[in-house]
Amino acid sequence: MDNASSSTSASQPRPRNIVVGVAGGIAAYKACHIVRAFKETGDNVRVVPTEAALNFVGKATFEALSGNPVSTTVFDAVDSVQHVKVGQEADLIVIAPATADLMARIVMGRGDDLLAATLLVATCPVVIAPAMHTEMWFNPATVANVATLRSRGITVLEPAHGRLTGKDTGPGRLPDPEQIVDLANAIHAGTRLPQDMVGKKVVITAGGTHEHIDPVRFIGNSSSGRQGFALGEIAAQRGAKVTIVAGSVAELSVPAGAEIVPVVSTQDMYEAVHKHAVDADFIVMAAAVADFTPATQATSKLKKGSDAGEDALSTISLVENPDILATTVTRRSKGELSKNPIIVGFAAETGDEGTSALEYARKKLQKKGCDLLMCNEVGKGKVFGQKHNQGWILDATGGVSEVVHGSKIEVSAQIWDAAVAFRNA
Ligand code: CTP
Repeated sequence: MDNASSSTSASQPRPRNIVVGVAGGIAAYKACHIVRAFKETGDNVRVVPTEAALNFVGKATFEALSGNPVSTTVFDAVDSVQHVKVGQEADLIVIAPATADLMARIVMGRGDDLLAATLLVATCPVVIAPAMHTEMWFNPATVANVATLRSRGITVLEPAHGRLTGKDTGPGRLPDPEQIVDLANAIHAGTRLPQDMVGKKVVITAGGTHEHIDPVRFIGNSSSGRQGFALGEIAAQRGAKVTIVAGSVAELSVPAGAEIVPVVSTQDMYEAVHKHAVDADFIVMAAAVADFTPATQATSKLKKGSDAGEDALSTISLVENPDILATTVTRRSKGELSKNPIIVGFAAETGDEGTSALEYARKKLQKKGCDLLMCNEVGKGKVFGQKHNQGWILDATGGVSEVVHGSKIEVSAQIWDAAVAFRNA
């Protein structure tokens, strides 16, 4: 069921009905941010906690944030048949955090509290974000329950890795609220997270590179790294082991279980990709890489007034950087990359009077020799730093498919669909 686009009037889409389910775990406090995020985008939010969740966050907090009454039991508001109504009216259900116990109850089809009953009734997309200790996450019962839920079409997100409640660290943390909301919105818009990348290693470049002139000045660009991180997020959620070689990026949440390799310059990025590509199954170059770098780099800050500074700052001689994408393709053809990876490039094009962005992209795909190229138009506020993207995916056999406009998370899912299909073809 997807009623988000249906309208109460031609110009005014009706708010979505979002149910935020909250189970009894320490991460329950993060549910407050999720409720707030949906409220800020105009959604009608109904919080349905379990009784145990109220040990962590009070009912009053959820009522104030959502602007709706909160109950845990099927015996409240019986006159309005609440245990059926909440689920029937929902456009999207997001459960964050979900405990091992709650998932076991959902698998069994229990209806012993309002949240379980709501899930028995709902036909809308359901997104479950589990949070628990690593041992509980890897317990065979939980593993089996997660598989069962996924087989029923429910999206169960991979937990983040990191510090847990005690001194332990590992998989089991609730992802950041913004990540959960972005993924849930993508699921609501039709994105699916098939487990078709389990066991695959993915290397992604993200962000912009900085080419230093001196210790404080550099040549750079305004890439935020959002697209690269979104690609990492979707790949991780589809089961892949993700390494992101990240240049300068905005403050972004780390995708579940991803390894971040921070780099500064194109040369650094080249070396990091060189190392990590060796056993990769997929390599995606989403970084905005500087093609040139200053021929010399001053070791101390150049002074404008001095002779050396005047010369060095008014005229900067540049030398060409290595082409990371093209050299990776060459290494593959020499048999240096053990898994014969699928290689995906990006083309940030503006087009001009004579040639469209798409035509430039076709030439670029041929020049670089990669398998797929995601082409998007940049400039004039498009793409860089934005949360949305669109464009085309070109493939080495001459095929072109449209990447429909969507959040960078939704676009990433389309790119992985194309990359996985290309690998399987
Ligand atoms: N790229 C790379 N190494 C470089 C330059 C670009 O790996 N030194 C990658 C980018 O990450 C992207 C693709 O190549 O995946 C195309 O990048 P783009 O900047 O559009 O292409 P260029 O080769 O720099 O061509 P031009 O700027 O002339 O259009």
